[in-house]
Amino acid sequence: MKVLLINGSPNKKGSTFTALSHMSEVFKSEGVESEIYHIGKEPVAPCRACYSCAKLQKCIIEDKVNEFLEFAMGFDGYVIGSPVHYAGASGGVVPFLHRVFLVNHMGARNCFEHKPATAIVSARRAGATTTIDQLNKYFQITQMPVVSGRYWNMVHGNSPDEVVKDLEGMQNLRFLARNFAYLLKCKEAAKNAGILPPEQEEVIYTNFIRDGI
Ligand SMILES: Cc1cc2nc3c(=O)[nH]c(=O)nc-3n(C[C@H](O)[C@H](O)[C@H](O)COP(=O)(O)O)c2cc1C
Repeated sequence: MKVLLINGSPNKKGSTFTALSHMSEVFKSEGVESEIYHIGKEPVAPCRACYSCAKLQKCIIEDKVNEFLEFAMGFDGYVIGSPVHYAGASGGVVPFLHRVFLVNHMGARNCFEHKPATAIVSARRAGATTTIDQLNKYFQITQMPVVSGRYWNMVHGNSPDEVVKDLEGMQNLRFLARNFAYLLKCKEAAKNAGILPPEQEEVIYTNFIRDGI
């Protein structure tokens, strides 16, 4: 069992990283492997909405998004971490996730379906819950069980030093990581007992247009 933690901050070792690292420690103590992936500082091109991914099964823009999709396939669960920027997710992580999830969706990659996921955010002061809502949307449209803690998954601080002083936020990350590990173990036990993810139907797209109305 292996979890991928995505650091959606331009800061490789900042507050978001500190929060994700804390979860990694708990995963280790629970016997779950984990790895932190940094999306980097360089600009990520926005989605062109060309839908070429439906045919190519990858993004037409050849950059880290396609590399990431190949790499991400091999994990059993995903944590997306972002700093709060203007009460939303970071300007880097949003185009990254748009393209990753569109390729998965339109390109029928099924990289993420039925794998647990959660979002965590770091904020100096405000905008954390809206950012969590924003990030959870990617999971909720992808049949991913969303794991929760015992509070909304946020840490407060403007630096790693401040984040570790947010004792409640850090404790919640431990609850969250243990719940995540528990769900992964439940899934494994279910698989061993012959319980597999449900059969998929052919998908219906209506675009809100109905014949005869
Ligand atoms: C462009 C920008 C916008 C920000 N907007 C907010 C905000 O709306 N609310 C907030 O609490 N903190 C805001 N911050 C502060 C960061 O969320 C906070 O310092 C965070 O812990 C940084 O995480 P990092 O070190 O992983 O980048 C903003 C920071 C930047 C650079």
